[in-house]
Amino acid sequence: MTSVRSVGGLLLLAALAWPASWQLHKIRQFRQQSLAPFVPSPHAVVEKMLEAAAIKPGETVYDLGCGDGRILITAVRKYRARGVCVELSPDLVRKTREEIRRLGLEDRIQVIEGNLLDADLRQADVVTLYLLTSSNEILKPKLESSLRRGARVVSHDFIIPGWEAVRVEKVQASGRTHTIYVYTMPPKKH
Ligand SMILES: C[S@@+](CC[C@H](N)C(=O)[O-])C[C@H]1O[C@@H](n2cnc3c(N)ncnc32)[C@H](O)[C@@H]1O
Repeated sequence: MTSVRSVGGLLLLAALAWPASWQLHKIRQFRQQSLAPFVPSPHAVVEKMLEAAAIKPGETVYDLGCGDGRILITAVRKYRARGVCVELSPDLVRKTREEIRRLGLEDRIQVIEGNLLDADLRQADVVTLYLLTSSNEILKPKLESSLRRGARVVSHDFIIPGWEAVRVEKVQASGRTHTIYVYTMPPKKH
């Protein structure tokens, strides 16, 4: 009888501990996959990034690490583009989906929860980035192998090492100068 009780107790303990250990596992996984913290691009920077990308109506813009979705929401509303938002944080994905639904843009913007390094970029006409130089370096081989000729990559503040920008813009916002780098595919290399 005692051993039945202790086995039952152990099972109960395991059942209580499992959600906590699953949470810890998810937090660890998130930290390992994260290529940049969430810092939204100021709206003036978003406007300049999209203008510099010379988006045509119907083109598809991917924001890799899309945060609150502001770049794609602007691209869709102002340039009549389509958007694909790839975001690691489940919390941001939920909020961004809610905002897109509130604005009635569900048929124009797809939100993918996951690692941007796993995204299929073959349909992208424009890719926007606000990561880190070291993250861009990790992403670079994927951009080179997946993006079609003529696609544009626009990066806020961080260069893609080894690529030569075709255009560089400066924007004053939130009390500092932001730099926007525009690359076209295939990229010119240093
Ligand atoms: C600096 S914020 C930029 C947000 C948005 N692109 C903007 O410019 O306003 C970087 C975003 O990338 C997301 N992120 C970081 N690593 C990621 C990964 N491996 N896959 C998908 N998203 C990622 C972060 O959660 C964060 O929302």
